Amino acid sequence: MNIEVMNGLLTPKSVAVVGASTKPGKIGHTVLMNLIDSNYAGGIFPINPKAEEILGLKCYPSVLDVPDQIDSAILTIPAKFVPDVVVQCGEKGIKGLNIITSGFSEVGKQELEHHIVELAHQYGMRILGPNIVGVLSNSDKFNGSFAPFLPLPGSGSLVSQSGALLIGIDAATYLRKVGFDKLISIGNMSDVNFSDTIEWLDQDENTTCISLYIEGFKDGRKVIEAARKAKKPIIGLKAGVSAHGAAAAASHTGSLAGAAKIYKAAFRQAGIIEAENLDNLFDRTLVLSLQPPMKGDNLLIITNGGGVGVLGTDAAEKFGVPLKYAPEDIQAELKKYMPPFGSAKNPVDLTGMADTDWYYGSVKYAIAHPWVDGLVVLYCETAMTDPQEIAQCIKRAIKDSGVKDKPVTISYVGGEKSEKAMHWLLKNGIPAYGAPDLAINAMAALNEYAKIKEAVNDLGEDIDNVDKQKALEIIKKARADGRNALTEIESKRVFEAYSLPVTRSELTTTKDEAVEVAEKFGFPIVMKIVSPDILHKSDAGGVVIDIQNVDGIRKAFNEIITNAKTYNTKANIHGVVVQEMAPWGTEVIIGSVNDRTFGPTVMFGLGGIFVEVLKDVTFRVAPFSKKQARQMISEIRGAPILAGVRGEKPCDREAIANIICKYAFMIIDLQDEISESDANPVVVYEEGNGLKVVDARIILKKK
Ligand code: ACO
Repeated sequence: MNIEVMNGLLTPKSVAVVGASTKPGKIGHTVLMNLIDSNYAGGIFPINPKAEEILGLKCYPSVLDVPDQIDSAILTIPAKFVPDVVVQCGEKGIKGLNIITSGFSEVGKQELEHHIVELAHQYGMRILGPNIVGVLSNSDKFNGSFAPFLPLPGSGSLVSQSGALLIGIDAATYLRKVGFDKLISIGNMSDVNFSDTIEWLDQDENTTCISLYIEGFKDGRKVIEAARKAKKPIIGLKAGVSAHGAAAAASHTGSLAGAAKIYKAAFRQAGIIEAENLDNLFDRTLVLSLQPPMKGDNLLIITNGGGVGVLGTDAAEKFGVPLKYAPEDIQAELKKYMPPFGSAKNPVDLTGMADTDWYYGSVKYAIAHPWVDGLVVLYCETAMTDPQEIAQCIKRAIKDSGVKDKPVTISYVGGEKSEKAMHWLLKNGIPAYGAPDLAINAMAALNEYAKIKEAVNDLGEDIDNVDKQKALEIIKKARADGRNALTEIESKRVFEAYSLPVTRSELTTTKDEAVEVAEKFGFPIVMKIVSPDILHKSDAGGVVIDIQNVDGIRKAFNEIITNAKTYNTKANIHGVVVQEMAPWGTEVIIGSVNDRTFGPTVMFGLGGIFVEVLKDVTFRVAPFSKKQARQMISEIRGAPILAGVRGEKPCDREAIANIICKYAFMIIDLQDEISESDANPVVVYEEGNGLKVVDARIILKKK
């Protein structure tokens, strides 16, 4: 990223408005007016060939007629005129173009959009947009947009893919008393993408936290990279999570891989904190822009009401920071700030008798205690206390404690007086919320931030014993046959090329061959149909298990072929696979999709025939470390089953972690070839006894 160019684009020292209109109410007029009204100190140059002067500023026919240097141009002219103006801006030596104009890729005009980017790049310019509202920056007093005013000042900055939402958020900052420094509308992302804005905002001295409203990344992998490197917290609100996975999928993994789950995984791997909705985006931006991370898990709640204390306790558990009893010394000290019927355990209930002295004393002591990693102070309005005085004493207590590296959040439940006190706290840089669960959720975000930041560098390692050439030969042969789906046996051979333990199996085309192979492997045996036209073998009656003898092999061979022919009369039947029968164990699934946003992505979950019903699966964008693989195993709902329930011994989870890592390596190595894949079921045995891939499916990318 060229910082100088990005600075020119996002914090220009001088700006031209190309299409500045003489007519009030038009976008080109509004943008010019907003620049003037925001008290922007840089040069403003209206460009319009038909006007001499607009809003008291000298107007020029083209940017080339402006004698001064111009950093950025805001374009508010119809789309068809944009290419010529881009060239003029390039000739003028402008650094960046904020193209407000609509009518490009969002209406199917990809070529026009591509063309203007090419033109801009020829001159070393960057484009924000097109189809944007513009850029707003409090610290630069710059409203280069058609949003009516700068947001309430704050220290977080927001990048929004939706222009209308950005205008709404701008106005809402005043109502919610949560400010932003910059609001950046990113529009069609023809050139400047989320990754660029993350990188740029990370070095912007007026931004302490980066919030993103996302409909879809264009540059998923680059975003992960930029976010991983970022030193500031990033919060992502992903909208449109329902449609993405709907595309017809040929594998279990394909059908389970929705946008929501993959974005969730990518966020976590990138160190991006998720916001659940717009309210949550505001709440989390507020806390992450003002407070340090919660470095450990010890959360202490101080309250003056049992009810809010219980609500806080419930929320703490729900949001992943469950309360623990406070150590004896904390309890002993805090008892000094409550009546005998108070409780110092945690939540610390100062009771309704709590006055400013008790709040002051308990907050000051608690925040300074080494056991406490984060403090949530809850307050219910009472007849005995003035909310404003409580707010002031909390602020004083924090200041007098001298502690700066531990987070505090506050909740007020009450009426107008409480609301005023909350706003006062916000003005003083202390995150205050209107309900206990919101204050706890905010604290949980600080805890989550510390944790996910630790994990961002859990990248993958290379694996040994790989025969890529062999895998490619199998794939090439299938392609030569005009197939995109590998048969089970081909899929297993590819897995074997990456050292994945598969059950021994061989393709047979006659009963005698089947008998020969079965005798070689030893009984019991499994037999399955092999046909590229039959993906769901069980549904076709194409699987017979637990065959104990030669007669059984002959019988099964006939049965399978007859069933397959009845199921699909046109099916191309390769034969019947004879396979060693894996002993019983716990079934899991490992699979992959080549996600269009993030690329090769691995899925893990409890396997078998119910996988699509239970949907107990989790994802990671490859590559990732074994630590992440272990986390995948522990984060599914069925994790206790793998850990061993009701006296059962634990499964070989280390073997699962190993195979997940090999799988991740394989799908990256073969990312030009594999579109989706499943190893399902993978039968896992007791700790130390490994696992076996029993069934395999690989779907190739269409070429
Ligand atoms: N150089 C300088 N000025 C020019 C040029 C040029 N090459 N060509 C035209 N102009 C002038 C025109 O003379 C006109 O000035 P005037 O009003 O004084 O006569 C001005 O530029 C604007 O041109 P118009 O043809 O009048 O275009 P109009 O203002 O109707 O529309 C606009 C232009 C606003 C860019 C429109 O094409 C558009 O894209 N609108 C949608 C923008 C938008 O909403 N973007 C954000 C989407 S995000 C969201 O959802 C909110």
